[in-house]
Amino acid sequence: MVEKRVFQPRNLLITGGAGFIGSSVVRTVLGERARKHLTRVVVLDALTYAGHLSNLDGVELDPRYRFVQGDICDRSLLEKLFAEHDIDSVLHLAAESHVDRSIESADAFVRTNVNGTFVLIDAARRAWAKADRSEPTRFVHVSTDEVYGALGPTGRFTESSPYAPNSPYAASKAASDLLVRSYARTYDFPAIITNTCNNYGPRQLPEKLIPLMITNAAEKKMLPVYGAGQQVREWIHVDDHADAVWQALVTGSPGESYLFGSDEELSNKQVVERIADLVDAELGRARGTSRELMTYVPDRKGHDFRYAIDSSKARRELGWAPTRTLETHLVETVRWYLANDAWRRSVATEEHRRFQAAYYAKSSTQESTQR
Ligand SMILES: NC(=O)c1ccc[n+]([C@@H]2O[C@H](COP(=O)([O-])OP(=O)(O)OC[C@H]3O[C@@H](n4cnc5c(N)ncnc54)[C@H](O)[C@@H]3O)[C@@H](O)[C@H]2O)c1
Repeated sequence: MVEKRVFQPRNLLITGGAGFIGSSVVRTVLGERARKHLTRVVVLDALTYAGHLSNLDGVELDPRYRFVQGDICDRSLLEKLFAEHDIDSVLHLAAESHVDRSIESADAFVRTNVNGTFVLIDAARRAWAKADRSEPTRFVHVSTDEVYGALGPTGRFTESSPYAPNSPYAASKAASDLLVRSYARTYDFPAIITNTCNNYGPRQLPEKLIPLMITNAAEKKMLPVYGAGQQVREWIHVDDHADAVWQALVTGSPGESYLFGSDEELSNKQVVERIADLVDAELGRARGTSRELMTYVPDRKGHDFRYAIDSSKARRELGWAPTRTLETHLVETVRWYLANDAWRRSVATEEHRRFQAAYYAKSSTQESTQR
């Protein structure tokens, strides 16, 4: 077997590093394994309603870390960052990421996910195409399994599954994947695409299923379950995903895609029931108390039935495998949200509150006609 060359990033740009997954990636790359060769980690984040510096608490102590508040659509800022820090690698996570918001309005999704990815990848290509550049470079584009659309009760997505996105969010991610793919093919640009299932863990904004259910259960608020809660999702711990993204950067082959999954599938109803029971146990409530809060609300428009991933290529070629299970890490996640009330309050911005309020208003008015 031919020994694979390991890429050693020196000056890494991470976009969206103040978000849920991005902040886990920042902690991972600044961790022990990466110390030898990394000299600079620049985090670029616009700090939208989803980005919070509190997600990066403690990271500022690392002398290699720089934070830049800015937009991936800002070409001149990107040109400056590539030149100033001699960026040789990018982990691209900045995105609008909430499906419900994309259904309300897709503008920001097309702007950031499609146009922003284009501006970023084009700035990287131009910076790296300079004739005097001899060092290798890499660009990892982080994406979702939602680009492949919905599965029935059986089967799994692979890297060669056809793209068939069903929500504006998924379509905007699919468009960005295809742009990145075209740059790899057209310009021999050293891009790697990764697609992953639903992430869970600390520091996820409580608009997404797991933190929403934990915080609502803790506060004895309604636990809204879409439709009959039968949709099936595969759940990966955010730190396993961050490890996978790092592995893709250092051992992935340019031009390739890799799918990361955990093989842990649950219906949404099962997820909510597990969380309800864990919150009851942690707060010393009688078992079943929080399940009483479960409320079936009208299904999300275009709600995909099931996603599942065959990650054998990533396991085989990147030497990666998840190490955290729902069994142990869902409890840990519940404990993190219960213990970090100050964090939760700090991320509940006015904009976030407004969207949530509108969501609840709609859910509760439609609920009576649907139950
Ligand atoms: N959360 C999941 O389960 C999941 C699963 C698979 C893939 N992904 C992908 O992983 C990436 C990160 O997802 P997440 O859940 O951490 O999202 P998130 O919403 O928590 O964070 C997104 C971050 O991007 C920043 N951002 C948004 N627009 C920007 C812009 N124009 N310029 C610069 N920064 C901007 C935000 O401020 C925020 O910090 C996304 O690309 C998403 O599509 C997420």
